[in-house]
Amino acid sequence: MIRQAILLVGGRGTRMWPLTDTVPKGLLPVAGVPFIELQFRLLAEVGVEEVILAIGTSHESAWRTYAEGTTSPVVHLAVEQSKLDTAGPLVAVRDQLDDRFLVLNGDVVLEGSLGQFVEDAPDLPAVLSLVGVEDTSAYGVVVTNDLGKVERFIEKPPPGTAPTNAVNAGMYLMSRSVFDAYDEGALSFEQTVFPSLVEQGLLGGVKIDGVWLDIGTPPLYLQTHRDVAAGNSRLVNMEPAHHGIGANVAGDLDGNWNFIGPGAVVEEGARVRESIVLAGATIRSGSVVEDSIVGWNAVVENARISDTTVIGAGAVVGEGCELTAAVRIGPGSSLSARSVTFEPPS
Ligand code: GTP
Repeated sequence: MIRQAILLVGGRGTRMWPLTDTVPKGLLPVAGVPFIELQFRLLAEVGVEEVILAIGTSHESAWRTYAEGTTSPVVHLAVEQSKLDTAGPLVAVRDQLDDRFLVLNGDVVLEGSLGQFVEDAPDLPAVLSLVGVEDTSAYGVVVTNDLGKVERFIEKPPPGTAPTNAVNAGMYLMSRSVFDAYDEGALSFEQTVFPSLVEQGLLGGVKIDGVWLDIGTPPLYLQTHRDVAAGNSRLVNMEPAHHGIGANVAGDLDGNWNFIGPGAVVEEGARVRESIVLAGATIRSGSVVEDSIVGWNAVVENARISDTTVIGAGAVVGEGCELTAAVRIGPGSSLSARSVTFEPPS
């Protein structure tokens, strides 16, 4: 029986900038629900009662408020004064750890059966959950033997060139003894702990089937909404054209899905396609927003936004601007009318 989980939510979340300037990655909404809630729902399925949130200093008050409002599971915060990387936070809380517990990266959730994972895990001090991916070139592939022992990692192999497509899904079953070998300070699972365990024959890996939701980058955050709107998640639901409470949508919502957050406005004559418009944002008449993310309370005047562009909270995109090619606009920035465009003035 696993009673405890440690969630690693103290990274800087640079790949999700500028959204992570405003909200920590683990609290970014997925279909209107803070991402961490999905992890709590999964952990509840195996009876986890206690969660230690390993946080950095940057979003401490947001995490504190969230933890105070949560009654199940019981949440404890472990605040780091310096960056401890992925495994250092476990060494820092070693005295609070059960003999066996789960560790989850704060930005991924694999919706397979966690109960099956725990049951199938070989009797080893650390076991990785593994998921099959089509394109292995962005991941470390994990090669296991017939007994479920990890034999080696292959970093970022082109698709079809590795003996397996199984990659680390970011959820681990671990024993406290793993951390006896390390002093307090920054420590990486990927660089130090896992390679050392493999050398000693002490690392396991179990493949799990299920949708893998990841919010680590803007394209993945969009993909997660696409998956949820298609009904592929059992942890969270979303209507294909989601309107948050108090949202005012007079314009067109195109494509297979759109997420319009609470209090957001899409004016008549505006078009939004397969995009995330976060709470309080306004898309003015004449605008086109495609495959992009508009942050909280941002305003898009009569402008075009496409190709995984991300607008920070409270930013204003002036009339006639064209933003594309995954450009990112910082929180509170103001782009004056026609200040960014691909067309010379006529
Ligand atoms: P990027 O800056 O975009 O790479 O994101 P990140 O900072 O979240 O890093 P990465 O995605 O590699 O981290 C994997 C997981 O470990 C995430 O859930 C992070 O929140 C977490 N993590 C990374 N560094 C730390 C740290 O120093 N302390 C804690 N507590 N968690 C961390």
